[in-house]
Amino acid sequence: MLNFTFQNPTKVIFGRDAISKIAGEVPRDARLMVAFGAQSARKYGVLDEVLRALAGFDITEFSGIGPNPEYETLCSGIALAREKKIDFLLAVGGGSVIDGTKFMAAAIPFSGEPYLLMENKGAAIRRAMPLGAVLTLPASGSEMNNRAIISRRAANWKRAIMNDFLFPRFAVLDPTKTFTLPPAETGNGVVDTFVHVLEQYLTYPVDGKVQDRLAEGLLLALIEEGPKALREPENYDVRANLMWASTLGLNGLIGAGVPQDWAAHRAGYELTVLYGLAHAQTLAVLVPAMLKVRSTGKKQKLLQYGERVWGISSGAETLRIDAAIERTRTFFETMGLPTRFADCGIKNVDADRVVELLAEHGLATMGESGDVTPGTIREILALC
Ligand code: NZQ
Ligand code: ZN
Repeated sequence: MLNFTFQNPTKVIFGRDAISKIAGEVPRDARLMVAFGAQSARKYGVLDEVLRALAGFDITEFSGIGPNPEYETLCSGIALAREKKIDFLLAVGGGSVIDGTKFMAAAIPFSGEPYLLMENKGAAIRRAMPLGAVLTLPASGSEMNNRAIISRRAANWKRAIMNDFLFPRFAVLDPTKTFTLPPAETGNGVVDTFVHVLEQYLTYPVDGKVQDRLAEGLLLALIEEGPKALREPENYDVRANLMWASTLGLNGLIGAGVPQDWAAHRAGYELTVLYGLAHAQTLAVLVPAMLKVRSTGKKQKLLQYGERVWGISSGAETLRIDAAIERTRTFFETMGLPTRFADCGIKNVDADRVVELLAEHGLATMGESGDVTPGTIREILALC
């Protein structure tokens, strides 16, 4: 029986001229901090376009939020924002810049050590500065959700926080800003989005017919449009569909009231910590093996996925399930992501270390039924 509360306060401004509308979303007297990554926002003119749209505002720039946003970097942004008495944050970039900006938004008004906000999945967050996001890489869904994933390499952690104070006030989605994405980032974005949908869909049935059909629709759109984006990077309609799919993939809508998995994501964070793999790359390797090892618990949904998404409707159940998993693997590879450790340059995965880190992070059991144990993780890693 479905039973849930759904709320999403983020306003979406979508389309070619979306950036020109930002000024209307920021209070006229705000002292703004515009946060961005290493190079792309400046190099491809997105930053200039944002600054033009905000002409006349009091603006401080903060650059250098890299992939897997690093705690220490964000602490310097927090110090800068306090010094400049910032009262509104604007992230310009992909998931890393938006996540990092969310963390800064919570930490700036917080009097304790910022890392304390990471404990208990962000439960200690009681307020945050208002923030907006200009998205340049569709993948994380961060632009319209209440999550942030922050890394601290020195302490071997990459952790998620979730708190409603982290929702951006607005998200500016201009698909033309994704034309410059290199094929690897386009592929990462499609695979990450695909797996966000799977983590909320491929569990066990609860008669969430609307959630299922929405999830299947998103998966089909990704399968149709993803490869086109590699062939035609400047095709507006293709980029627009991918952008909207990634936002809807993790804004709470398809996951409302249904069981959720997230074991691939959580184990994937440890692989990023240990081997520096890009987030989506961890998923491309883990998901096919994970679906195989966990196919009994996920049987009904795997059969439904195979039939409705891949058109696999005849044959013995085990064969249909295997075929659905192989189609998934092939799709990730079509998007340019290897699906085996060996093809990512990793010869031997240290399963002991992965399991140890998961336990340290309070993730000794995971998955929609809590049955992904250290033993399951070892079995999955051995298959990768
Ligand atoms: O740093 P710059 O120079 O800007 O380059 C970035 C970066 O190197 C580049 N890029 C971004 N937009 C571009 C572009 N290059 C050319 N043209 C553009 N338009 O792309 C590189 C990767 O950017 P990043 O923001 O790291 O990628 P993504 O959006 O995939 O974000 C990954 C992060 O999001 C987290 C991941 O764990 C990872 O840390 N996630 C956040 C989630 C959330 N908040 O809900 C959920 C996700 O599952 C995910 O865990
Ligand atoms: Zn993800």
